[in-house]
Amino acid sequence: MIWFVYLTALYCIGHLVAEFVPQDNYLINCGSTINTTVDNRVFIGDSAEPGLALLSKSNSISLRNPSSKSSPLYSTTRIFTTSSSYGFGIKKFGTHLVRFHFSPFSSPQFDFNNSNFSVLANGVPLLSNFGAKDFGVTVVKEFIIKVDSVELEVSFVPSKEQNIFAFVSAIEVFSAPINFFVDGVSTSLIVPNKGVKGFSQNISSLVLETVHRINVGGLKLTPFNDTLWRTWIPDEDFLVLKSAAKIATATHSPNYQPGGASEEIAPDNVYMTAQQMNKDNVSTVYNFNITWDFPVGPGDALHFVRLHFCDIVSLALNQLYFNVYINDVVAYKDLDLSSLTFHALASPYYLDFVVDSGHSGSIRISVGPSDLNNSLRKNAILNGVEIMSIKNFVDFESTGLKKRRIWILIGSVIGGFVVLCFVLLAGVVVLRRRRERGKPRRVGSTDTGWTPLRTYRCSSIGTMSEGTALTSPGPNGYHGLKIPYADLALATNNFDKDVMIGSGGFGMVYKAILKDNTKVAVKRGVPGSRQGLPEFHTEIAILSKIRHLHLVSLVGYCEEQSEMILVYEYMEKGTLKSHLYGPKLSPLSWKQRLEICIGAARGIHYLHTGSAQGIIHRDIKSTNILLDENYIAKVADFGLSRSGPCLNETHVSTGVKGSFGYLDPEYFRRRQLTDKSDVYSFGVVLFEVLCARPAVDPALEREQVNLGEWAIEWQKKGLLEQIIDPHLRGQIRPSSLKKFGETAEKCLADYAIDRPTMGDVLWNLEHALQLQENGTPPSPAVDNVTMEPPSAGDIHQVPAENIWMERETAEGSSNISTSRVFSQLIANDGR
Ligand SMILES: *[C@@H]1O[C@H](CO)[C@@H](O)[C@H](O)[C@H]1NC(C)=O
Ligand SMILES: *[C@@H]1O[C@H](CO)[C@@H](O)[C@H](O)[C@H]1NC(C)=O
Ligand SMILES: *[C@@H]1O[C@H](CO)[C@@H](O)[C@H](O)[C@H]1NC(C)=O
Ligand SMILES: *[C@@H]1O[C@H](CO)[C@@H](O)[C@H](O)[C@H]1NC(C)=O
Ligand SMILES: *[C@@H]1O[C@H](CO)[C@@H](O)[C@H](O)[C@H]1NC(C)=O
Ligand SMILES: *[C@@H]1O[C@H](CO)[C@@H](O)[C@H](O)[C@H]1NC(C)=O
Ligand SMILES: *[C@@H]1O[C@H](CO)[C@@H](O)[C@H](O)[C@H]1NC(C)=O
Ligand SMILES: *[C@@H]1O[C@H](CO)[C@@H](O)[C@H](O)[C@H]1NC(C)=O
Repeated sequence: MIWFVYLTALYCIGHLVAEFVPQDNYLINCGSTINTTVDNRVFIGDSAEPGLALLSKSNSISLRNPSSKSSPLYSTTRIFTTSSSYGFGIKKFGTHLVRFHFSPFSSPQFDFNNSNFSVLANGVPLLSNFGAKDFGVTVVKEFIIKVDSVELEVSFVPSKEQNIFAFVSAIEVFSAPINFFVDGVSTSLIVPNKGVKGFSQNISSLVLETVHRINVGGLKLTPFNDTLWRTWIPDEDFLVLKSAAKIATATHSPNYQPGGASEEIAPDNVYMTAQQMNKDNVSTVYNFNITWDFPVGPGDALHFVRLHFCDIVSLALNQLYFNVYINDVVAYKDLDLSSLTFHALASPYYLDFVVDSGHSGSIRISVGPSDLNNSLRKNAILNGVEIMSIKNFVDFESTGLKKRRIWILIGSVIGGFVVLCFVLLAGVVVLRRRRERGKPRRVGSTDTGWTPLRTYRCSSIGTMSEGTALTSPGPNGYHGLKIPYADLALATNNFDKDVMIGSGGFGMVYKAILKDNTKVAVKRGVPGSRQGLPEFHTEIAILSKIRHLHLVSLVGYCEEQSEMILVYEYMEKGTLKSHLYGPKLSPLSWKQRLEICIGAARGIHYLHTGSAQGIIHRDIKSTNILLDENYIAKVADFGLSRSGPCLNETHVSTGVKGSFGYLDPEYFRRRQLTDKSDVYSFGVVLFEVLCARPAVDPALEREQVNLGEWAIEWQKKGLLEQIIDPHLRGQIRPSSLKKFGETAEKCLADYAIDRPTMGDVLWNLEHALQLQENGTPPSPAVDNVTMEPPSAGDIHQVPAENIWMERETAEGSSNISTSRVFSQLIANDGR
C-alpha cells in the first residue's frame, strides 16, 4: 500500500540570514504523533495528523524507544511488516538529498536482529539487505538523486522470510541548491594505471550514496553547523602519515567568488581549516605528499569524489602551486587556486572527479608540491573531501510514475481550502490560502533557456509579427558588436580593481572609456568559468536586437578564448536601489520616483509587446533598473530572460529562476512563466520605491520581512501612507498615492490573471504622476484608457497622447527628463 504524505513544509524563519531554504522540504519523524524540532528544523510526526494520510496503519507499528537519549527524533520508530511507501509531492525537479535515520534499540516486542529490508526510491533500489547491526547505534544513510517526476515514492520492502520487518526512525527529503552539480561539463574519470579520461555522464543523473564527508584539518561539523544539515568528520583517522600534515586555520570567513564554491557546496567551517605540508619535521626536504586513505565498499567500483580547496595558507596570490593525486594518478597538475578563484585569496573552490577504484576497497588522495617552481614556498593543501558511491545510472524520469495516481491529501479536492506554504529564501514565509483546482502539472523538461527569436515564430497570425523592432542578426550572428579583448583590457587598465564599479552573480563590472571616448560599463564573466554562458548568450541575443530608451543598450561584447565580456552604455547614476536606501545619496523626490517607475514600466512593456513573441525579463528588481545621468530609468540584465509563450500557449514552463522577494508566487508554485511574472516583480519594485526598503529584509519582524506582503496589508487597510519613505512625507498628493498604491496592489495579485498588463501599469503610473502634478482628476478619456490598456502597436493612436501634449505645453520644457520620457510615449518603437 502507499502511504501518501503530501506535506507542504512549513518553514519557520530561521535566525540565519542567508540560510538555504529548499523548495521541497519534507522532514518526517517516523512513528511519532508529535512534531519535533531538531536543529531549527521541524520534523513532522507521521502519525500526527490525518492529513498525513497513513492510508492504512494496520501493517505498520509505531514503536517507542523509552530509553532514547540521543535525539528526540529517535524516540519513536516505525516498523513495517509488509511493503509500505511514503509519497512526497515534488515541486522542484532535479537533484534532491534523501536521508534515512535508522535507530534500532532493544525492544520487548520487536527484535531488531530480525530487520532485513530494501529501500527504494521510485523503484530504484537505494539499500538492499539492510538491517540493524548495533542496537543503540543510529545509522544515517544519505543519497543524492535526481527526481524529475511529480512524486517521489519511497518504499520499505521487508525480505520475504517470516517475522522479518523493515524500520525507519526519520526521513529527510529536500531539494539541493541550484548548481549543486553543474551539468554539461565533463568530469575527469580517474582510472588506476591508465590515467585520466572524460566521464560523459552528467553527475546529476547519477544515484549517489554518501560514503565519506570530511572536514580536513577541522572539527566535526554537525547538521546544526552545516548549510545543508550534513555531518562532516575530521580527517585525522584517514591520514597515512600524520606527521606529514599540519593544520592551517583561517580567522576570516571565506571569500566566496562567483564561479567558485558557495556556502551550500560546503560551509565556512570546511573552507576555514585545511591540512598543509608539515615542514617543521622535514626541515630541508620539501618534496613529499600528504596522503589520505579512505576505505570504500569493495563492491562499488565507481565513486564520485569532490575535493574542496581554499587557499588560507598563502600571504599573497600565486604563491601556491600543487598537484592532486587520486589513486596515484595525477588528477590535477599544478593547481593554481589564485587563478581559478578569480584572483582572490581564501576563496573556496572545488574539483569533481569520478574514480574507478576497481575492487581495491579504498581511495587514496594525495596532495604534494608542484615542480613548477623551486621556491621555498612549496606547499600543498586540502580543505575537504566528499566521497560518494555511484549506485547506478538510472534516469529517474524514465522510471516514470505517470501512470500512478497522485494523491493530494492535504488540499481536499472536494473543495476545501489548502494552506500552501511557500518558502522563500532568507526564511521568508509566504502563506496563501488557496483553493486547489487540479493536480500538480508536469513541467516540461526542456529548460534550455533562450530560443533565438529569428527561428521562432509560433503562430500563423501574421499581424503580430509585423511592425516588430526585432531584426535578425543575419547569418554571421552579431559580429558587428564584437570588441577585441585587447581593446577592453586597455580600456580597463587590464581590469584594474580601481575601476571596478560592481560585482554580481556573473562577474565583475568595470568602468571604462573606449577608444572613441564613449564611457561604458564592462561586465566580465569569471574567465574560464562556463557558468553563465547561457545567460551571456541570452543577453547578447536580446540586446543586440532591441534598442529602447528604457532598456540598457549593449555597446558590444567579447568572446575570445575563455572570456565572456559584455559592454554596455555607462549608467552614471547606478542602480535605482542605491538611490532608495543604503549608501547616503540624496533622496529622490516623489516626482522623480514616479518618472523612474514610468520609464522602467515603459521598458518592460516594450519587452513584453515589442516583438512578435514578447520577451519575459524574469529578474525585475531595483538593482536591475539603472539610471543615467538624467535619472532616466533603463532596465538591465537580460541574462535570465526568455522568449514569451507562443500565441497558442498561455505560459512557458521553466525552472524557477529570479530573485527572492520579487518572485511571482504563481510562477513559483506552478512554474508557468508569463509576462505577468514580471508585473508581479515590478509591483514589488513599486513598493520599494514608495517605502525605501528592500524587498526582503530578514532583520525585520516576521510580518515585515517580505515587503510585498507587508505593504499589501497596509494598502488593504487604507493606511499605506503610514509606511512610506519618511523623506516623502508631505510630498505626495493623496490622490497620487492612492493611484500608485492601487497599481502596486494589482500587480501583486496572487493570480497572474488578476494582474494588469505592463501597459496598464504604465498608464496608471502616468495617471499617478498627473495627479501629483496638477491634482485634478484626469478626463474620462484617460480613465477609459486606464481600464483598457493599449497594446504596443496602438500607443501612437491613443487619445491620451493629446493629454500628455497638453501637460507638456502647460509645464513647458523645464524638465528635460520628463520630456524625454514623454517622447518615448509618442514613438514607442525604439531608436
Ligand atoms: C505538526 O506540523 C504540521 C505542519 O506544520 C501541523 O499541520 C500539525 O498540526 C502539527 N502537529 C502537531 C501535533 O503539532
Ligand atoms: C541481536 O544480535 C546481537 C549480536 O549480533 C546479540 O548480542 C543480541 O542478543 C541479539 N538480540 C536479541 C534480542 O536476540
Ligand atoms: C538479509 O538477508 C540476506 C539473505 O536473505 C543476507 O544475505 C543479509 O546478510 C541479511 N542482512 C542483514 C542485515 O541481516
Ligand atoms: C547533460 O546535461 C546537459 C545540460 O543539461 C545536456 O545538454 C546533456 O544532454 C546532458 N548529457 C547527458 C549525457 O545526459
Ligand atoms: C557546531 O555546532 C555545535 C552545536 O551543535 C557547537 O557546539 C559547535 O561549536 C559547532 N562547531 C563549529 C565548528 O562551529
Ligand atoms: C615530528 O616527528 C615526530 C616523530 O616522527 C613526532 O613525534 C612529532 O610530533 C613531529 N612534530 C610535528 C610538529 O609534527
Ligand atoms: C606524490 O604521490 C604521487 C602519486 O602517488 C607520486 O607519483 C609522487 O611521486 C609523490 N610525490 C612526492 C614528492 O613524493
Ligand atoms: C617562481 O619563483 C620565482 C622566485 O622564486 C618567482 O619570481 C616566479 O614568479 C615563480 N614562478 C611561478 C610560476 O610561480
